[in-house]
Amino acid sequence: MDTLGELVHAQYRYHGPAGVTAAGRDGAEQLISGFRAAFSDLHAEVTSVIAQDDRVAMTLTMTGTHDGAGMGVDPTGRKIEMPVVLVSRFEGGLIIEEWEYYDAAKLRSDFAPGPGSDLMTTLVIGGRGKTGRRVCERLATAGLPVRAASRSGETRFDWEDETTWAPALDGVDAVYLTYYPDLAFPGAAETVGAFADRAVAMGVERIVLLSGRGEEGARHSEERVKNSGADWTIVRCAFFNQNFSETFAEPVRHGVLSMPGGETQEPFLDAEDIADVVFAALTDPRHIGKLYELTGPRLLTLSQAAAEISAAIGREVQYLPTTSQDYAAELVQSGMPAEEAVPISELIAAVLDGRNSYLSDGVQQALGRPPRDFADYARAAAAGGAWDLTKL
Ligand SMILES: NC(=O)c1ccc[n+]([C@@H]2O[C@H](COP(=O)([O-])OP(=O)(O)OC[C@H]3O[C@@H](n4cnc5c(N)ncnc54)[C@H](OP(=O)(O)O)[C@@H]3O)[C@@H](O)[C@H]2O)c1
Repeated sequence: MDTLGELVHAQYRYHGPAGVTAAGRDGAEQLISGFRAAFSDLHAEVTSVIAQDDRVAMTLTMTGTHDGAGMGVDPTGRKIEMPVVLVSRFEGGLIIEEWEYYDAAKLRSDFAPGPGSDLMTTLVIGGRGKTGRRVCERLATAGLPVRAASRSGETRFDWEDETTWAPALDGVDAVYLTYYPDLAFPGAAETVGAFADRAVAMGVERIVLLSGRGEEGARHSEERVKNSGADWTIVRCAFFNQNFSETFAEPVRHGVLSMPGGETQEPFLDAEDIADVVFAALTDPRHIGKLYELTGPRLLTLSQAAAEISAAIGREVQYLPTTSQDYAAELVQSGMPAEEAVPISELIAAVLDGRNSYLSDGVQQALGRPPRDFADYARAAAAGGAWDLTKL
């Protein structure tokens, strides 16, 4: 450990099977200590090393006995044998970035004491939504049992039908709680509170709540979750980047972004960052009792966001400021019931009225790394076909 500073760059980033999970020299140290604690007899047999430019790729086989608590699993006494590929990128003679590839699902099943194992099962409400889907992917990649729940999900769950709650919660240890349509809606805190109380009564130990930033109503739901008796983490989020590519993808594809946001600045936040924080909160006890306020790394107006998307897709997307009333009418025209469209429009206009025009460092606090920039998001979403212009 004393020599870590001679090997690892201060800006070190480690990408495990579930994304970036360690950063900085402290992160590298925690990673190594965690592995050593879980496998005191850990042995790595290197089979090949290939170096090119600033990168070194190493293939190795790791063996060891799982004789300490590790990766959220109590010691099982089982032996593991795991092929691993480690790619390291060097800067100034120090390792600045590493990608580790191994079969996390195999590792988990090697740990598990067989069918009906005691691995944590997580219920993800809104499991097909913008953040829920990404959290499910991370849990599944880590080999952890996960139930994606919603009205159309594989686990049926409806906030408006309490009879769906208990079957979805049966055998669940942790919940990623996303409420729909919004925590700021009347009655949300009562519903969320009743659900959290039911969850704890049925054996749920941990709840991670997706909350809104600058929404007074969301505070009541946060309090209800905190008072439920569960180990809680609150993840208070700025306006998601992915609203542009998943919720408003169609108008953006047609070159228009019409919203009740004036020229306010907003620290748009990436759902990938939210999912990384939520995954960490669900799997690492260090996040229990923490409230993270997450934003992106810079403030942008909606015109500037539209310009970033234009640059990424190579075609102009124009921001047209509108009023909350006109925006509600547009939503109704696109098929949303008026009783949802009106409060959603009012809510968007409220959270974009300037009250949230400041940065918070929740991503850095929770993950030890900065949040993803909007331009990187726009380029990746464009490359992934979010605004596919060939279909116009
Ligand atoms: N979007 C943002 O910028 C933002 C920012 C901060 C906080 N939030 C919070 O994020 C939450 C919603 O996020 P979102 O608007 O971005 O939506 P989303 O997560 O992309 O999608 C909504 C999900 O909820 C499910 N759903 C809808 N009605 C449901 C019901 N009655 N019972 C159970 N599941 C239901 C949907 O699936 P089915 O259709 O299959 O039911 C879908 O999976 C809200 O609580 C909001 O406060 C959002």
